Amino acid sequence: MNSIKIDLPYKGYDIFVGSGLNLARALGDIKISFKVAVIVTNVIVAKLHLNKIVHSLKGVFDEVHVIELPDGELFKNWDSLNKIFEALLTWECDRKTVLFALGGGVVGDLTGFAAATYMRGVPFVQLPTTLLAQVDSSVGGKTAINHPLGKNMIGAFYQPQLVLCDLEVLDTLPSRELSAGLAEVIKYGPIADANFLNWLENNIDAVLAKDKDALAHVVRRSCEIKAGIVSQDEKESGVRAILNFGHTFGHAIEAGMGYGVWLHGEGVAAGMVMASELSMRLGLVDASFVSRLKTLIRRAGLPTVAPLISASDNAGRYLELMRIDKKSDAGEIRYVLIDGVGRAILRAAPDALVREVIDACCE
Ligand code: NAD
Ligand code: GLY
Repeated sequence: MNSIKIDLPYKGYDIFVGSGLNLARALGDIKISFKVAVIVTNVIVAKLHLNKIVHSLKGVFDEVHVIELPDGELFKNWDSLNKIFEALLTWECDRKTVLFALGGGVVGDLTGFAAATYMRGVPFVQLPTTLLAQVDSSVGGKTAINHPLGKNMIGAFYQPQLVLCDLEVLDTLPSRELSAGLAEVIKYGPIADANFLNWLENNIDAVLAKDKDALAHVVRRSCEIKAGIVSQDEKESGVRAILNFGHTFGHAIEAGMGYGVWLHGEGVAAGMVMASELSMRLGLVDASFVSRLKTLIRRAGLPTVAPLISASDNAGRYLELMRIDKKSDAGEIRYVLIDGVGRAILRAAPDALVREVIDACCE
């Protein structure tokens, strides 16, 4: 099977992209013990896609267990993590246990963090079932849970053994979730690949119609771009931060509205508009770029206007939430800004200017 390789100093791995992929065959190429497999999933995905995975793994592992979590961003927390640990301990799982994350970014981030910390680390495999997870969250080893005071604040960098993006699972994905995934796809254009942005503008309708060739291109190109960036900077000490285009504002929207009210991708979409507006006001791009990006985001079924998150001091609340962003430096917020299409930079900006942007972008 063709794969995209992610090269890392200590452990690279393969990202497989295609329709009806053979999990057992993909596992054959990696050197892990095949004793106990534990699939972590949620109640929604379990109904749709669990049987096929259990069947594949039963042909390879001696024992296969399943942990079903409740669905949603609200459950990306300590309670869910504890449920995973309790199940692993009850089943007397040792370090040769392999965890399989079957689900979207919530299940992937939670399972990855459980794998990073259970017995100080057990192997895990990403089986992403949302577009967002296939193009972004399953690749690159960021794992985390949310804290009420900030998104993804507790976590670890911990890489999977492999990632298997089976496009067939996207058949059951609701259109709102497909659009949310497109936010993370669209970001790759402005930050890294002007041609990909053009391609998306020409093919967004085919992607929304779930045309398999269009989806395959979207997932492959996104994974290639992400793999290239993560290979240069696994732990985000530099260039990897550009993958957070739109996320500083977006995370404030998610936390400010209450986790799960706005989907992650929706927050990122409105956040990319805000970050572009800020880039324009700093003289890095012109107004035509902002309007071009807004048009694509709108066509992808995503919001271009950000929500009010405080009735008394909306901009102040955004700034307060953004100050605990992981890219902040000594309390100074650093924004991912677009410096010409296909190039991103990380830079601070005066609060007064950011307030103007927030006022202009929120309704
Ligand atoms: P999600 O995991 O909540 O999945 C979205 C919804 O789709 C859920 O209701 C889920 O049950 C359902 N679903 C999943 N697969 C389905 C399928 N095939 N058919 C039908 N329904 C399906 O959300 P998400 O958008 O996948 O991920 C968002 C999360 O990812 C956020 O917590 C975000 O912080 C995180 N994230 C992490 C990274 C990273 O690098 N680790 C990057 C981007 C986002
Ligand atoms: N989603 C941003 C990153 O993986 O760095």
